[in-house]
Amino acid sequence: MTLGLFDDAPAPYAAPEAIAPGAALLRGFALEVDEALLQAVEAVTAAAPLRHLVTPGGYTMSVAMSNCGELGWVSDRSGYRYDPRDPLSGKPWPPMPTCFSELALKAAAQAGFGNFRPDACLINRYEPGARLSLHQDKDEGQLDAPIVSVSLGLPAVFLFGGLKRSDKPARYRLLHGDVAVWGGPSRLAYHGVAPLTEGEHARLGRQRINLTFRRAR
Ligand code: SIN
Ligand code: FE2
Repeated sequence: MTLGLFDDAPAPYAAPEAIAPGAALLRGFALEVDEALLQAVEAVTAAAPLRHLVTPGGYTMSVAMSNCGELGWVSDRSGYRYDPRDPLSGKPWPPMPTCFSELALKAAAQAGFGNFRPDACLINRYEPGARLSLHQDKDEGQLDAPIVSVSLGLPAVFLFGGLKRSDKPARYRLLHGDVAVWGGPSRLAYHGVAPLTEGEHARLGRQRINLTFRRAR
């Protein structure tokens, strides 16, 4: 066997790459379970379809969203909130698949946050051109728990700034299987995603799927 340093195979999982105090990238951390994750995404979004939410300001988001777990993040003209029910169906969100919660627990631990038990998973789908402007995740009751964010499909440029909106964000290219974790002193860091570039992913085609795990209450 050769070491494969020069081929295009995904890099084997490497040690966490610190990007700020309490924030790290775990390159390739989700690759081992990617197919299980994607099948679970398909099952969840069959029951709770991806949809483009409207912001309180009346703007329709370019990213399509759904949720699983006890709580789901939603936005409408009245504001942002966590809701135990899918407003489209009036039914509880689909339960969080075991492969989701296990991966989130392991990734958080790898980044130094033990016993992470997410009760909410936001599923974001980006098509080319879709973006997420800089924001803080601050609608959660539990700011002591980290955020765990899993990238699947097309690559994206992740913007990771500081605690002030005016802090210039650093740019990180996130690939299929990469996981980002931020908590502790970085829990309220501004972050976002640059407009997705056109491309074709072998498994997901023209899309990027992001799973964002939170402890909302
Ligand atoms: C988010 O901030 O909810 C999503 C981040 C991402 O898509 O990488
Ligand atoms: Fe976020």
